Amino acid sequence: MNVLLLGASGRIGQRTANELRARGHTVTGVSRSGTVEEIDGDGFVAITGDATDADDMAKLAAGHDAIVSALGPSDDESPEILTEMIEAVIEGLRRADVERLVWTGGAGGLSVGPETRLIETDDFPEEWVPVARAAIDAYEILSEADDLEWSYLAPAALIEPGERTGEYRTADGELVTDDEGDSYISMEDFAVALVDELEEKTAVHTYLGTGY
Ligand SMILES: NC(=O)c1ccc[n+]([C@@H]2O[C@H](COP(=O)([O-])OP(=O)(O)OC[C@H]3O[C@@H](n4cnc5c(N)ncnc54)[C@H](OP(=O)(O)O)[C@@H]3O)[C@@H](O)[C@H]2O)c1
Repeated sequence: MNVLLLGASGRIGQRTANELRARGHTVTGVSRSGTVEEIDGDGFVAITGDATDADDMAKLAAGHDAIVSALGPSDDESPEILTEMIEAVIEGLRRADVERLVWTGGAGGLSVGPETRLIETDDFPEEWVPVARAAIDAYEILSEADDLEWSYLAPAALIEPGERTGEYRTADGELVTDDEGDSYISMEDFAVALVDELEEKTAVHTYLGTGY
């Protein structure tokens, strides 16, 4: 596939670029800096673009088969910028006539029990609340876009650089935890999950939790 990868210079984005390339996809990697390091081999082009700008998104999306997002707010921006990004990306896709969007979201809106989301639990770190709330707001905007083939994939509660095992589990709308109750995934395996979903389309119009 010819894939436009938004946030390609980020931590999850670079690993997603490598996973896409390893599977033979052609990747245009977007960030505001336009600089992406550590991508192996041919078939990857880094390009400058602003994901809050619908004109930019429409121009960049044109001619691609799908958009994969690993966008995240910078430390110096309000997390609510995520809602501006998702609105501009949706508008850009519509204008470019591209239907498929696989979005890296947040775990905060996933269910952890009857009528309880992760963000509502006592242990949820206070400093993560603003970005988790913004990610839920972005999901709510995306969930209205019935005309697009979107999938919203959330990492586990904890995601860090690690190993690519190729193994992970998913749950529709629910936090994935292991036998000890821990919710974890490596960034490499989350990238595997994103690209699996891009290729297999098993979670279209779904908020999908991932983890071990
Ligand atoms: N457990 C969880 O739920 C969990 C944990 C971690 C991360 N996440 C989510 O995963 C996503 C990615 O995380 P990450 O750690 O990989 O983020 P990151 O390293 O901060 O990368 C963010 C990427 O977005 C790009 N970007 C930011 N603003 C942009 C704009 N206006 N236009 C174009 N590109 C822009 C950045 O490049 P430039 O700055 O050069 O533009 C960078 O490539 C985030 O949405 C985050 O909330 C969820």
